[in-house]
Amino acid sequence: MKIKNICCIGAGYVGGPTMAVIAQKCPHINVTVVDINADRIAAWNDEDVSKLPVYEPGLDAVVAEARGRNLFFSTDVDKAIDEAEMIFMSVNTPTKTYGKGKGMAADLKYIELCARQIARVAKDDKIVVEKSTLPVRTASAIKNILDNTGNGNGIKFQILSNPEFLAEGTAIADLMNPDRVLIGGDTTPEGQEAIQALVDVYANWVPEEQILTTNVWSSELSKLTANAFLAQRVSSINAMSELCEKTGADVNEVAKAIGMDSRIGPKFLKASVGFGGSCFQKDILNLVYIAKTYGLDEVADYWEQVIIMNDHQKRRFADNIVSTLYNTVSGKKIAFLGWAFKKDTNDTRESAAIYVADDLLNEQAKVSVYDPKVVAERMYADLDYLNTRTAEENREGLEVCKDSYQACEGAHAIAVLTEWDEFKTYDWKKIYDQMQKPAFVFDGRGILDKEQLKEIGFVYYKIGEGE
Ligand code: NAI
Repeated sequence: MKIKNICCIGAGYVGGPTMAVIAQKCPHINVTVVDINADRIAAWNDEDVSKLPVYEPGLDAVVAEARGRNLFFSTDVDKAIDEAEMIFMSVNTPTKTYGKGKGMAADLKYIELCARQIARVAKDDKIVVEKSTLPVRTASAIKNILDNTGNGNGIKFQILSNPEFLAEGTAIADLMNPDRVLIGGDTTPEGQEAIQALVDVYANWVPEEQILTTNVWSSELSKLTANAFLAQRVSSINAMSELCEKTGADVNEVAKAIGMDSRIGPKFLKASVGFGGSCFQKDILNLVYIAKTYGLDEVADYWEQVIIMNDHQKRRFADNIVSTLYNTVSGKKIAFLGWAFKKDTNDTRESAAIYVADDLLNEQAKVSVYDPKVVAERMYADLDYLNTRTAEENREGLEVCKDSYQACEGAHAIAVLTEWDEFKTYDWKKIYDQMQKPAFVFDGRGILDKEQLKEIGFVYYKIGEGE
């Protein structure tokens, strides 16, 4: 079966970039990305590609090339479903904030709504692709909804699992050149045919040996497993960073030494203020929840520790700022460089900066933030979401600056929360001259030049570096 029309439900950080790359690489396929969020769709359609709702290096060029040719963004979900032979579900699957599994399980209401809408609209057979990250065995629930809530005129649905492994900040490079593409489907001949249809889409630019096909459950569970392993590496090196600080070891030297062991490998061994992003925490919590549902308490506890360690790392970064500043930051200006959860993205979901700011605001600090890509409304929304204090109090305590030097002016301390490259090239002497003395820098990402900063006169603290 040759696919001519693809629909993707959900125009977010995954749906947008993923479909833009499919459209660019497959000019013979029409790709329509739909969303119920009209503002988001309008931004995807903005003539000025610098205004796209997702910031990713290289995304603007891909969109500029394919949009209007075979890439379309629309709010007309029904029409796009009706026209497509293959429908990707790329909607959000956040942690549940209510009821059973609150704070742990994935909230599947958006996925279910999608499935019901597909069932209602479809007039012919469809391949439905799970692009969202979902708990293992969700495909059977989706199949059940599709088969039983439709208009009942013998329409056949095939469900595939095709989890997305892109990393924000490098999404376009990851999509153009993926380590692997994973496709899970039914072992029946119809299932295999559906798998092949999706393999054929990716084969337009991905070497076939990197396209892995499995059964649906392996594919669903592989995504949760991959994120759990990645996050675990960060928590492992962060756990060692605290021990390094106590013992005079340097976590970067330790990371280099262990990373040269080919069984361990050098990547993802950077100690930091803690991981953020919409996925790691939510997916591990989901994994813990699934393990618990099967009565696997040891498995659940094992993975939960990754989150506990990450929360600890964020908290101890804030605690260290307070204790170093003579046990009080009340009324003191603390400048934040960075709010995004990592560089080269405007995504702030679960960013460590939010939690560090929250802790410091509790201590009555005056926080001033500069981030090259995150807008003020986003930062305030992130803080308001925590419900720690009123919206007015958040706006009183946190100031958002459009200029980094202004953010640092008069500050007692600077905290580096995101590893944006531009921070490395600042005129640090100029910044120093405009700060209170002693001037402290807490480098939560380990990106600044320690010797240079010390020479200027800064008191410099880096995660994982003992005295
Ligand atoms: P997102 O929140 O940026 O985008 C989801 C979009 O779906 C929103 O714009 C929302 O309005 C839309 N939506 C929800 N229900 C809808 C409906 N019924 N009809 C039409 N549109 C609807 O989320 P993001 O980050 O793109 O994530 C999507 C999925 O991909 C999640 O399951 C996530 O775990 C997974 N994922 C995310 C990665 C990331 O780096 N952000 C990486 C790999 C997977």
